[in-house]
This record gives sequence, structure tokens and C-alpha cells, in this order.
Amino acid sequence: MYSKVKKLSEIDVPKIVVTPPGPKSMELMRLREKYVPKAVYNVSSIFVAESEGSVIKDVDGNEYIDFTTGISCLNVGHRDPEVMKAIEEQLGKYLHLCFHVTPYEPYIRLAEKLAMIAPGNFEKKVILVNSGAEAVENAVKVARRFTGKPVIVTFEYAFHGRTRLAMSLTGSVHPYKYGFGPLDPAIHRTPYAYCYRCSFGLEYPTCNMRCVEYIKDTFAIHLSPDDVAAMIVEPIQGEGGFIVPPKEFLQGLRKICNENDILLIADEVQSGMGRTGKMFAVEHYGIIPDMITMAKSLGGGLPIAATIGKGDIMDSVQVGGLGGTFGGNPLSCVAAIKAIEEAKKLLENAEKLGKILIGRLKEMHEKYEIIGDVRGIGLMAAVELVKNRKTKEPAKEERNRILSECHKNGLIIIGAGAYKNVIRFLPPLNISEELLNKGLDIFENAVKTLK
Ligand SMILES: Cc1ncc(COP(=O)(O)O)c(C=O)c1O
Repeated sequence: MYSKVKKLSEIDVPKIVVTPPGPKSMELMRLREKYVPKAVYNVSSIFVAESEGSVIKDVDGNEYIDFTTGISCLNVGHRDPEVMKAIEEQLGKYLHLCFHVTPYEPYIRLAEKLAMIAPGNFEKKVILVNSGAEAVENAVKVARRFTGKPVIVTFEYAFHGRTRLAMSLTGSVHPYKYGFGPLDPAIHRTPYAYCYRCSFGLEYPTCNMRCVEYIKDTFAIHLSPDDVAAMIVEPIQGEGGFIVPPKEFLQGLRKICNENDILLIADEVQSGMGRTGKMFAVEHYGIIPDMITMAKSLGGGLPIAATIGKGDIMDSVQVGGLGGTFGGNPLSCVAAIKAIEEAKKLLENAEKLGKILIGRLKEMHEKYEIIGDVRGIGLMAAVELVKNRKTKEPAKEERNRILSECHKNGLIIIGAGAYKNVIRFLPPLNISEELLNKGLDIFENAVKTLK
């Protein structure tokens, strides 16, 4: 029973008993190399024995503060007691049934909850699937079916997943698309508002939002909006480097979509579920998308994803056109219902701790030349590392050295960014202030070692 598992200490961590990766982790890594293809990447060689709250313990007895949460899948922390209780109760009832064959209540209750919390004062309907990529695939299928148009507009540096359509929408060729063609043919890519590295070489706000105006030019000259079904956008880009656009960017996209009968899909797979201090990152921007994709933290640690959309849009698809065997697995549904309730309670904390996190990163920006940019909202924050603040040459090797120094000293943290020079901070929304600061001390010490 989960409740009997020994609690990991929240105060004394990290306790490093052998230099990680220890002998047991190394042995497992040898087996991993033998039986798992190298394409399935690992950012650390630390094998986990148990986890609780904001702490992970490895098979060699080392403890780590977790600033990664399984790439933003544990906004409510590891093994949240309420989520665990809901899973335990469901285990005593039934596991897989398949919603298409013998429907069950948790699917409906979760759909209802998502329809209620998603922005927009209109009727919404929800499909439950298994992964972020699948949620994106479904959003695009529905958008094409509803509008009868083929083209999807996507953005530079975007990440939407690894299935064929999702990787077609993704920006970076390496490693996501290289050698995997043919990709979806009806994708059009345009610059994102990555103000630190503006695609037009301009500066905000004197740029007058050239990236938005550029889409208007494109529609006037190169691509008819009559062929465009939807724009898919991450309100804050995740894998691309935690890029936070100005308000006018998303508002400008919404306006262009309205004027051209194009659907706006917000991919909230990484930015949703309270990560930014609001349940959905779009709430910071005052826009209402036609469809939203969710995954990652939705299941509180179990795999589940959702495509939420306006009722008439979602109902435009023929019976049998959407779904899948495992979509909306009962165990994941009950976990997600609780994870949503718990995440809602943590919004204020995310905002409060986010100020501490971003405040400390900004102080480090003052002290260390290598930190070229600090950005984020709530507990979705990042630093971009550069060799030279003027040329902005990406500090990729230095970034990797900082990451491995953090791992060695008890902090699990990962990178991001098309230029492989970003470090992202994704602690649980209920991490204690003390642990947050301890993790930041480890990070700062790792930055200092570069000298
Ligand atoms: C914004 C965004 N969309 C989609 C995905 C794909 O999700 P999954 O890995 O669950 O397929 C990710 C994963 O990182 C993501 O960050």
C-alpha cells in the first residue's frame, strides 16, 4: 500500500552516498545499452528506486531534488496522496474496459471537468487519448474535418511530439525528423516570437510584432488562408527553450484566425495544469483557443491526454473517426480527476514560488556572464546560456557540464532549446521553499564551477 512506503526526507536532501551514477545504476545502464535502442535517449544514468513529493532516491541510495518532474508530468509532485488514493480505489473496481465497448463513469467525469475548466464560455467536448502527440494528432484531424481545409500553420522551434503528424509540426529537424520522411505535406511553418533571437533581427517592442505581420503578408502572397484549417501554437514553447512570447503575439494570432475562419489550437501539453500559476497558460494572454491539447501532468503520473474543443467543432467528425483502444483508461481518468483538483489548489503556490525562482535566476543573470537570458511564468522558467552576451553564441558544452554537475550534487534538472543551450526549471508546484532554494544553490554552485 502506498501509504506504508517510507517517506523520503524532505529536509535533509540531497544525501549523496556514492558519486552518481553508482554501481547499481551503472550495471542497469549496461543492460539498458544492450536491450534498449540508443535512440530512446537518456539525460542521466541514474536509475530510480523510489520517489515522493519533490525527492527521488536512486538504486544506490542517493537522494535528489527533482526540478524536472518527469518532464513536467508531476505538477502535483511524486505520488501525490490524493492521486494515489483514487488509483487504489479504482484498482479494487476494474481496469481496462475500452470506452468504445462498455463505457464507464470516470471517462465522463474527467471530460466534464476538463470542459468546465478550459477557457471559453461555450459548450465543449473532450476526447481522451494516451499521449501528447496523440492529442495533437486528434486536434489536427478534427480541424481538417471541421473546416474541410488541409493546411496547418505551425511555428519555428515548436515541439508537438514524435508521431508522424506531430513530428511534421515540430520545428527542429535534429533529432526529431531526421531521416523519418515523408512528413505530412500540408504544414506551413512561420517564426515564433522568440524575442531573444528574433527571426527578423528586430527588438521588442520596436519590432511592431513583425512575426504577426509576417503571417498576414504570407496570407496575402504565398498561402491562401482559404486552405488553412488551423494554427497550432504552444502558448509558451517548451522543448524549443521555454520561450515566452509577448501578449500581442498570441492576441495577434487569435485575430488573424478570427478574420480568416482558421481554428486556433493551443498546445498546453507542457504549459498547462497549473505550471504557470494558472490552469492554462493562455489565461495569461487573454485569448480563448478553439481547441486545447493536454497531457503530461494531467494524469498526476499516469499516462493520459486530452483534446478539448468547441462542441460543434468536435462533433463534426463521423462516428468511429476518433478514439482508440486505451484512450481514457479508467485508472488514468480517476488519477487525472484528482490531479486537476490538487493542481487547482496549488496555483497560488506556483505563482509565489515562481517569483522566488525567477527572482533568484535574475540575480544569477547579474552575476554570471554565461546566463544570457532568464525567462518564464510561474514555475515554468529557464535560463539561456551564451558564450558571449553580444554574439549570443550558444554555450552548449557549458550547459551540459552544468547539468552533469547538478546531477552529481543531488539535483535532477534537464535542458531544452533548439540550440541545446537552455536549462529548464520544472519543480513540483508543491515543492517547499527550502527545497527550491537548496536546488537553486546546487545549480548556482554548478554555474560557478565553470570558472
Ligand atoms: C508542447 C508539447 N506538445 C506535445 C508533446 C508530446 O507529448 P508526448 O511526449 O506525451 O507525446 C510534448 C512533449 O514534450 C510537448 O511539450
